[in-house]
Amino acid sequence: MPLRFNKDHYIKARIVLLFLMLGICGISISGCCCANSKVETTENLIGKTGVETTENLISEIEVEIRENFIPKAELLGYDDNIEPFSFVVISDPHSSESVRKGYEKFGTARDKFKLCLEEINKMKKNDGPEFILITGDIHLWAIKDIISDFDLPVHVVAGNHEKKEHRKELRDFFPNDFKKNGAESDYYSFLHNNVRFIGICDAAPSEHVGHLSSETIRPFGQSEWLEAELKKEEKAKVIFGHVPPEPNGEDKNMWLSRNDSLFFNDLIERTRPAMMFFGHQHIPKKLKVSGCDMYVVRSSSWNFHDLPIGFMFVSFQKKGVLIKEIIFK
Ligand SMILES: [Fe+2]
Repeated sequence: MPLRFNKDHYIKARIVLLFLMLGICGISISGCCCANSKVETTENLIGKTGVETTENLISEIEVEIRENFIPKAELLGYDDNIEPFSFVVISDPHSSESVRKGYEKFGTARDKFKLCLEEINKMKKNDGPEFILITGDIHLWAIKDIISDFDLPVHVVAGNHEKKEHRKELRDFFPNDFKKNGAESDYYSFLHNNVRFIGICDAAPSEHVGHLSSETIRPFGQSEWLEAELKKEEKAKVIFGHVPPEPNGEDKNMWLSRNDSLFFNDLIERTRPAMMFFGHQHIPKKLKVSGCDMYVVRSSSWNFHDLPIGFMFVSFQKKGVLIKEIIFK
C-alpha cells in the first residue's frame, strides 16, 4: 500500500516540529546566559581556569619584593632621634570594581584588597607595619567590613572617585582623622612617633587634574593649613594625597594643576618634609620634587601597560628609610 498523508498526519507532524524548535531555542538561551555571566564573578573565573578553591587561586600568585634603602643624608628632611616604625601605603584600590582584563587570576578589586591585607598580616610577625595609608580612589563602601575586621589603624584620603556623598562616608567612617581644629575637614594630620603625617585632599570628583581648592574640598583654606602644618615643630614630616604635584610646575593632565604645583613645590623647598606618597596615575614612579623623594604608588587593583599590582612598605629607621615594593604577579 502506498503511504498517504492525510490532514491528521500533517497536524501531528507540525506539533512535533514545534516542540523540537522550542527545545533547541531553550538550550541556546540557557547557553547564552552562562556565557554572559562567566566574566562577572570570581567563582565563575575559578571554574573557568579549573582551579577549585580560593586558596589554590591565591597560591598561583607570585610575590616579588623590591627593596631600596635611602640613607638619611639623601632625604630632604629627617629626624636623627627617630623612634623606628613602619607603615604601608595602598593606592587606588577601586574596591567595588569587578574582575579586570589582564588581572583575572586576582579576582575582583575587593579580592585584591584582601590579598594586600593578607600580605600585611604576614609582615606583622617581625617589625611589621603599625598602620596603613590609602591614597584615594578607595570605594570605601565595598570594603568597610574588611577594614573594620582588620586590626591595624587605617588612614585615608579621598580620590577623584570619591564624590560628595563618598567624602561624607569617609569622614563618618574615620571620625578621628577628618578634623581640622575639631571641625569636620577633608584634610587632616596625625602624629606617629613624633613624625607628622599630613593627609591632603587634592582631588575633585570627576576631574583628573588635581586642585588644592574646590567647592568639593571642605573647608576652604587648605593651602594656608598645609603651610602651617609643614612649619610645625616636628623634624620629620610625610605628605600623602591622591594627585601628585607636577615636579616642574607644568600644565598637564593627571597632575596637580600648574599653579597649585608651583605653590606646592615652593612650599616643599621651604619646609623640607622627609617624603611624599601619592596615587592616581596607575604607573609606579619615584620622583624628586624640590629635592624631596616623591613616590607615585602602584595601584593595588590595576595599572597602565598591564604593570603588576601591589603596595608599598615603608620603614623609618635611625639611619634612613627602607622602601619595599610588594608586587603581585
Ligand atoms: Fe584617581
